[in-house]
Amino acid sequence: MSTTPKFAIPTHPSSAAGLRTLAIHAGEDPDPITHASSPNLVMSTTFTVDADAAFSAEAMGDESRWVYTRWGNPTVHQLELKLAALEGADTAVAFGSGMAALFTLLVHTLKSGDHAVISDVTYAALSESANEILPELGISVTRADTSDPENVCRALTPRTRLVHIETPCNPLLRLTDIAAMAEIAHAGGALLSVDSTFATPAATRPLALGADFVVHSLTKYLGGHGDALGGAIIGSDKLLRDIRRKTALRAGGVLSPFNAWLILRGLATFPLRMRAHEENALKVAAWLEQNSHVTRVLYPGLPSHPQHALARRQMRNFSGMVTFQIPNGPAAARVLAEHLHVIHYAVSLGHHRSLLFYLGTNDLLQTTFKLDPPQLASWRTYAGDGIFRFSVGLEDPEDLIADLDQAFSHL
Ligand SMILES: Cc1ncc(COP(=O)(O)O)c(C=O)c1O
Repeated sequence: MSTTPKFAIPTHPSSAAGLRTLAIHAGEDPDPITHASSPNLVMSTTFTVDADAAFSAEAMGDESRWVYTRWGNPTVHQLELKLAALEGADTAVAFGSGMAALFTLLVHTLKSGDHAVISDVTYAALSESANEILPELGISVTRADTSDPENVCRALTPRTRLVHIETPCNPLLRLTDIAAMAEIAHAGGALLSVDSTFATPAATRPLALGADFVVHSLTKYLGGHGDALGGAIIGSDKLLRDIRRKTALRAGGVLSPFNAWLILRGLATFPLRMRAHEENALKVAAWLEQNSHVTRVLYPGLPSHPQHALARRQMRNFSGMVTFQIPNGPAAARVLAEHLHVIHYAVSLGHHRSLLFYLGTNDLLQTTFKLDPPQLASWRTYAGDGIFRFSVGLEDPEDLIADLDQAFSHL
């Protein structure tokens, strides 16, 4: 019989290990009972406990055994260890979606009377929460174009507790300088959170650049296969301890063990996938840039991206997200949705499969992001009336280009 304790918590491999090694091994010690080499899936919602076990998450110590899956689960825990290792962090808390992670972060760090500075262009549901729900809770918000650090300096007030940025941002692929943001936020007494869903730890490690929290939608590149929603907040033990105990477990938006297991499996190949996403995106973006139907291409890896210098400094991988413009976008969207065969016309991103979707930026910037007229004017020069958001997948790049070419011939 093995003498290894039941429910042993897997440990981090050495933090000196490379990203590919961490993606495979971090959090995945062989099962102490069965010696299974791959992670088990533990779906149980409850665990047998000693008679003196604590009956509240608050009373649980760090070394407590598993009690109830909303408080902690071995499979979810393995994922959290891997995510922490990939971001070079102490710890991670997993959620049922990226939005559950983001919303928990907002309501945990901000209280009535506080102020937050949030990028003016972010994932739409986060923008809507910032514009509608936070003010209802008595939290004031300034939306700032964070690509210019001066805008954030001007937006800070003595009540600012959080600066939240997304880089590259969805859907316009504008970048924000994380190190500059950390310096400004901390000098103003605020914490910095970075939604790094588009960049992934293959490109950028925001905590090493001074951020306090990294947030991911695991639904995208980290899970990578379009079959599991998930999210995570990653950071220091000190900051995440209360997020787990006071907010995540009580609000209850935790991750299902089955999704954790799928995402763990996706994560093993994530550094290799990111290389292939980048390689394909560079080829497709270069082809789009010389195509006569296309008026503008934005990809951080192209020298034509307005912040290419920052991208080179801050991103070790340019990721797989490309946006491009075609005149009369809504009509072009109908043609492409009908004629693309390999590329799926669909929302979401970061999957092995290529996904394309048209976003009317005029509407998005006014209705969803509620930008004021000067902000709108500055974004319109960048984004026109609308953009195609292209999540370049892992298919052969020649097939993606051929699919675009034949669909463009119907324009
Ligand atoms: C940058 C970014 N953050 C957060 C989210 C929300 O993630 P989820 O759909 O997993 O809730 C998304 C979704 O597209 C996103 O693109």
